[in-house]
Amino acid sequence: MELASPSFPLSGRRIVLGITGSIAAYKSATLARELKRRGAQVRVVMTAGATEFITPLTMATLIDRPVHSDFTEDEHAGVWTNHVELGIWGDLIVVAPATANTLAAMVHGQCENLLQAVLLSARCPVAVAPAMDLDMFTHASTQDNLRVLEERGVDIVDPGTGPLASGLVGKGRMAEPEDIADRVEAHFQKTLPWSGKQVLITAGPTHEPLDAVRFLGNRSSGKMGFALASAFADQGALVTLVVGPVNLPTPERVHRRIDISTAVDMNEAVQSCWASMDFGVACAAVSDFRPAQTSDIKWHRADMPETIALKENPDILRGMGQSKTDAQRLVGFALETDEGLDSAKAKLARKNLDAIVLNTLQDDGAGFAVDTNKVTVLDASGRTVEFDLQAKDELAQKLVDLWRTTLIP
Ligand code: CTP
Repeated sequence: MELASPSFPLSGRRIVLGITGSIAAYKSATLARELKRRGAQVRVVMTAGATEFITPLTMATLIDRPVHSDFTEDEHAGVWTNHVELGIWGDLIVVAPATANTLAAMVHGQCENLLQAVLLSARCPVAVAPAMDLDMFTHASTQDNLRVLEERGVDIVDPGTGPLASGLVGKGRMAEPEDIADRVEAHFQKTLPWSGKQVLITAGPTHEPLDAVRFLGNRSSGKMGFALASAFADQGALVTLVVGPVNLPTPERVHRRIDISTAVDMNEAVQSCWASMDFGVACAAVSDFRPAQTSDIKWHRADMPETIALKENPDILRGMGQSKTDAQRLVGFALETDEGLDSAKAKLARKNLDAIVLNTLQDDGAGFAVDTNKVTVLDASGRTVEFDLQAKDELAQKLVDLWRTTLIP
């Protein structure tokens, strides 16, 4: 069993860090490192003033990619920095430090440098961490600008009080990098519907070994489970994906992926973390049986047994249902070859689920190894919701929205 990545609260979040010309720019290095340490992807845009205080090389080294400071990257080759692309790429722009000048430019929509252009074309929320001298900070112009920005929804990370570069003592020092990073985390927690919720998803098939090279398995591709993992993570959930042998990359914002091969391993992985989860979705096509005996070496033709005895595997979902607390919610899948409503209802009750997603192989385009699915969701209160044939990614988003409104108190 492999733990691919530990839990990072900002996993996959894209943050554009804008740095402007203040002595506090030296703290931006710690902030960039802190955001990366918490799992964020960081891109840095520096104003010319900022490069006087901290070098682009320092920042580029910390974030592992070049920083942007000019509209043109290589004037002679005609390469320009696409500020619109940067503005769209980010989930959040943090300007830290934000000088009085940049705050004023933001209020008036000025576009005199790359950072200002990024801010003007951004579709994502913006946070600023002002840093300036005491009198500049308390000046009515700055205070008015901050008020206007706040009214427009900009998150102002208040400066701290203490000795300032000028020798004065007062309010104006940029907030500490750890505090700004906490604020960034809080931002994602409050803005997304599944923020703070821990979601466990099982996906893919299991492989039950017969000998060193053969196994008992099924045709599950893992696509539906991965689409759900991605949709939950996009909505702010901390997703743990326990996954059988599949050939799929981990969706971007998923916090932890546990790769397993057999049902017994999947059960062990699920049991190790289910108690700390808020929500579980069992999407895996778990093999109900495994060969009673396996061999570490390859069976040759002459050694092949005539019959293979099977042993029952644990019902992972049933185990989750049995230990489910009042605060937890649990969803199962039922893949049926007939119309399936009655057996799905029976599974819902037998496994103590809050909802079950039924797909039937009678429907073209539904089920294993295809990119589309057509499902009916039944829940414990008797509600039935049908979803037309559609891409698994699209369907996953709709299921995640449905469960947020119908299953989470
Ligand atoms: N499941 C599980 N562990 C198993 C078998 C199934 O966690 N050993 C989960 C699947 O991930 C799915 C649900 O149970 O969410 C339904 O699986 P299915 O194979 O349809 O149900 P079974 O309980 O095996 O019932 P049956 O074979 O009688 O249809």
